[in-house]
Amino acid sequence: MGYKITIDGPAGTGKGTLAKSLSEILNIVNVDSGSLYRTLGLYAIRTGLEPTNMEKLEKVLGEIDIELKEVDGKLQPHLDGENVAGYIRTEDVARVTSKFASIKIVREYMAERQRRLAKDRNIIIEGRDLGSSVFPDAELKIFLNADVKERANRRYKQLLEKGEDITFEKALEMIETRDHADSTREVSPLIKTEDMEEIDSTNMSIEQVVERAIELVKMKGLI
Ligand code: DC
Repeated sequence: MGYKITIDGPAGTGKGTLAKSLSEILNIVNVDSGSLYRTLGLYAIRTGLEPTNMEKLEKVLGEIDIELKEVDGKLQPHLDGENVAGYIRTEDVARVTSKFASIKIVREYMAERQRRLAKDRNIIIEGRDLGSSVFPDAELKIFLNADVKERANRRYKQLLEKGEDITFEKALEMIETRDHADSTREVSPLIKTEDMEEIDSTNMSIEQVVERAIELVKMKGLI
């Protein structure tokens, strides 16, 4: 049995950056659970699968293979054997994905894959419902938060760098829409449970956030 560190929180708080840094410092596997959900979103865009067609969705989940496989020492999302890491980080994929992320059978499918990845090893895993639902027994549960305007500003800059056509107002609207979808869905909504350690990164640098997280790792006796 290994130990599990979960990081949950809304979009744009820097969960991915924190998880990557921690996995390098602690030398443990990093699982980006959102990439599994995004791979289904990509599949839906490619095939025209609708989130309202439950019968078809159930059949698809029984047939497709969404997996994280190790490539160059990192876990990368694969769709029926194809490495799709280069296609899932777009706003189009994010938008479609959030419609599927609220569906119970989708969450069950993803949770099963996440638990399989965590079997018998130390992992750090980030997303929305890891500490609250998928791994309630995790040794350290971090809830990473930040002010919505700050998160929108970070996302705005990231998208500008990627060359996407974006304004700050649009970035804010996208983050607010995703916050609403993440925290109001019926199945495993984004919540902070009592046993989570909150880090508010609004006025913190990445280094400060990592430092605080390492303090928590030590406090839990994991290193
Ligand atoms: O963290 P992200 O932006 O890559 O997440 C993509 C989508 O997947 C987003 O709509 C939230 C959803 N998601 C989720 O519902 N549960 C998770 N554990 C991870 C992501």
